[in-house]
Amino acid sequence: RKEVHPWLENPSAALSAARWLGKGAKEDGDGAAVDAMRLSFDSISVRGRIVIGEGAKDEAPMLYNGELVGDGSGPEIDIAVDPVEGTNLLALGRPNSIAVIGACKAGCMYDPGSSYYMKKLVVGPAARDVVDIDAPVEDNLKAVAKALGKDVNDITVFVLDKPRHKQLIADIRKAGARITLHTDGDVAGSLMVVDPSVDVDVMMGTGGTPEGVISACAIKGLGGQIFGRFDPQSQAERDIMIKEGTNLDEVLSVESLIKAGAFDAMGANRAQLMA
Ligand code: FBP
Repeated sequence: RKEVHPWLENPSAALSAARWLGKGAKEDGDGAAVDAMRLSFDSISVRGRIVIGEGAKDEAPMLYNGELVGDGSGPEIDIAVDPVEGTNLLALGRPNSIAVIGACKAGCMYDPGSSYYMKKLVVGPAARDVVDIDAPVEDNLKAVAKALGKDVNDITVFVLDKPRHKQLIADIRKAGARITLHTDGDVAGSLMVVDPSVDVDVMMGTGGTPEGVISACAIKGLGGQIFGRFDPQSQAERDIMIKEGTNLDEVLSVESLIKAGAFDAMGANRAQLMA
């Protein structure tokens, strides 16, 4: 890749952003990652369309929603990007800030429109059929524990440390489970749940909707489940979603966020995207 872009010292989003780790400058770190990720796409053999990017074209010069990326050959794919997921984590020198791309066959990725926040429930493969986003927290945790052959006291739940989660945290503790609280980064939280080498069993709570779709790519690939319901955090967000005709009561799942056949015909491009 250095040969393709010799002027760029490092066309890797993560490594470019890493130079800003702990520098207290989240916009600079994010900008470095965006530049690198955008350039990297030029050397990948796909006809990609950014479904989830840095925003509308007039507010994001690169990796904007609807932008076409890739070298124009190869399969047509939908792409979700988050060049730095966890910009505060990066700026504050904390762990779990990641550069992330979700990709699947064109037409298979859910477009969240103007939705910013979504309530999420993420579990790994063993518990994918036993949870219900509308069930009480305790019931879900008991069901996950049973599916995993664990005691509920040994279940660990990833939760974002936000005031909106006060009741959720109380409910999880009442059920007897452990909580790993994180200020930011619920994509990393979802990855922890579906990564068998990490001792995190569930993710619960409200975080970004685009982050939910990105997470769904990995969750689908690894056989887990994510249930989501829009959870607008302001009247303005609610109003715009209603104006767009969004059904705020709809329960989304890994199957509706990333549709069937999503990873067909990705072939060698899968490896290229991961590089
Ligand atoms: P950014 O990288 O855009 O700052 O997002 C970090 C994050 O923590 C996400 O992981 C999460 O989904 C979202 O922000 C939660 O939003 P908020 O901090 O507004 O509750």
